[in-house]
Amino acid sequence: MRKKIVAGNWKMNKTLMEANKLFDEISNNTFSNDVLVIISPPSIYLSQFAMVTKGIAIASQNVSQYNEGAYTGEISAKMLKEIGVDYCLVGHSERRSYFNEINTTLAEKINRLLENDIKVIFCCGESLNERETNRAEEVIELQLKESLFHISSKEIENVVIAYEPVWAIGTGLTATSEQAQDMHDFIRSLLKKYYNENISTRISILYGGSCKPSNAKDIFSKKDVDGGLIGGAALESNAFLEIIKSI
Ligand code: PGA
Repeated sequence: MRKKIVAGNWKMNKTLMEANKLFDEISNNTFSNDVLVIISPPSIYLSQFAMVTKGIAIASQNVSQYNEGAYTGEISAKMLKEIGVDYCLVGHSERRSYFNEINTTLAEKINRLLENDIKVIFCCGESLNERETNRAEEVIELQLKESLFHISSKEIENVVIAYEPVWAIGTGLTATSEQAQDMHDFIRSLLKKYYNENISTRISILYGGSCKPSNAKDIFSKKDVDGGLIGGAALESNAFLEIIKSI
């Protein structure tokens, strides 16, 4: 049985007061044992949220590819582990495009996280141009191959993959549930190719990109979609809670 997951990526949103309010509104609920709820706030709020152990896992939005030392502004995987962070996003398209993170850097980040016993939410996705020129699968395979598939079959058990078509992130455009299913099925076939059948059936694959209460049920109903990575709709508790209920 694969884990069902709904993760909220708050990105660089919310003042301290707003963040506390939103976190309380979400964490005051009890969730079904069948779903894991993850919240990924700005890093400055991680330690206070990580102290709350009420059935919500906490994810960092970023980590340094280095262990420690003279890297001004960076946060290490060891520091994240010490304050109780459970997961970390790697490869989000905003990190790739605005901060020039390339596949080989992402591979290093994944190594640091796994060495420090933090689980990885690895994001991959194609641009609109890549989809329109029929290169989506090729791009996804390359992203996974160069950043993720170097890890062992034991390590990959600590990874969740998020398929996030770049053209659907924050745009209001959503992949149809069929498009999501097709790509999730393809990613699962890659897990089988690079690892084995058993692993391919056990890794959770989330969909991300303008997922909201009105489309979550349809997307989550697909057999290879194990939940969602939610941006905009995770910034409002009612919408986020409704998405959680859709799983
Ligand atoms: P969105 O963002 O739901 O606002 O499209 C998803 C994401 O960036 O993870």
